[in-house]
Amino acid sequence: PIRGPVLGLEASCDETAAAILAPDGTILAEAVRSQLAEHTPFGGVVPEIAARAHLAHLPALAAQVMGQAGVAPADLGGIAATAGPGLIGGLIVGASFGKGMAIAHGLPFVAVNHLEGHALTARLPGVVEGGVEFPYLLLLLSGGHCQCVAVEGLGRYRRLGSTLDDAVGEAFDKSAKLMGLPWPGGPALEKLAASGDPMRYPLPRPMLGRPGCDFSFSGLKTAVAQMVPKLETEQDRADLAAAFQRVVAAVLADRARNALAMLPNATCGGATAMVVAGGVAANQGVRAALSAEAARAGLPLVAPPIRLCTDNAVMIAWAGIERLRAGLTEPLDFAPRPRWPL
Ligand code: KG4
Ligand code: ZN
Repeated sequence: PIRGPVLGLEASCDETAAAILAPDGTILAEAVRSQLAEHTPFGGVVPEIAARAHLAHLPALAAQVMGQAGVAPADLGGIAATAGPGLIGGLIVGASFGKGMAIAHGLPFVAVNHLEGHALTARLPGVVEGGVEFPYLLLLLSGGHCQCVAVEGLGRYRRLGSTLDDAVGEAFDKSAKLMGLPWPGGPALEKLAASGDPMRYPLPRPMLGRPGCDFSFSGLKTAVAQMVPKLETEQDRADLAAAFQRVVAAVLADRARNALAMLPNATCGGATAMVVAGGVAANQGVRAALSAEAARAGLPLVAPPIRLCTDNAVMIAWAGIERLRAGLTEPLDFAPRPRWPL
């Protein structure tokens, strides 16, 4: 049994985050500090700036959530910190801070794979009543990752397909940049697409209709680059944004359908849900297309609230709880891993 609430720490990319969860998964306190302002002048995440910002802000965020939850370090049941994959500077900051607390207060330390955090979020008891049961299909759709994963149990993840070039969030960001939208492009592009006609411009639909569930988005980006100089009015831009979003949603739905078919019969028959995670899961067009595809297979689409889809520490604390329940902790010499496949 877990002795007390678990502190989760996340610093693998450009969000500094801390959260405290009760051993049953109840969220007691959570905080995220985005580094958007630091990185925006550069149009993307600058690793050195990210590491320094994590160093400057993580201790205060951890203290803040402990205060809000009314939990003293000695009362904790464990510390869970993202130890990879991600930018090494931030990983070192988060994992070292977590290890320091674990040593100081004699607590178990859990080194969490960031992707496992995304993968298990749907199992939080608050996301759906009691949390999603194993096995399920996970579509991880973020700025750095784009994959279909069969989640068969804790620590049992089978990658069914992934991107051959850009991640889907990266495709949103790069296309948005070409269209003159601010970074990060995904939310800006979705907003612009809302007033556009998705049928006006034809765009390629990479991988659609091909077997398997790999992704490819670089051709789509090239097509956008060729269209942009021809755009004249704000309406033209909105129409291209809408076309882009429609095509991406259609491709994701096609890939998801194949992924479901790739689950072995026993798993497919038993799959409890299609789950989406990652920042792109915030996109309403994408959600609608995936929801229709899940319904076709007789499964619910489980999309955690947006704040739990994007990078956060709740998911890290929760993955820590799942691992602690299974008796899985890491020794304090565990080294952060910039590359760490699920
Ligand atoms: O999961 P996330 O917060 O960070 C990681 O990449 O790990 O995902 C960020 C990505 C960015 O590429 C961003 O443009 C995209 O998610 N994104 C969106 C939307 N909100 C965030 N893409 C499309 N539509 C959105 N509403
Ligand atoms: Zn992420």
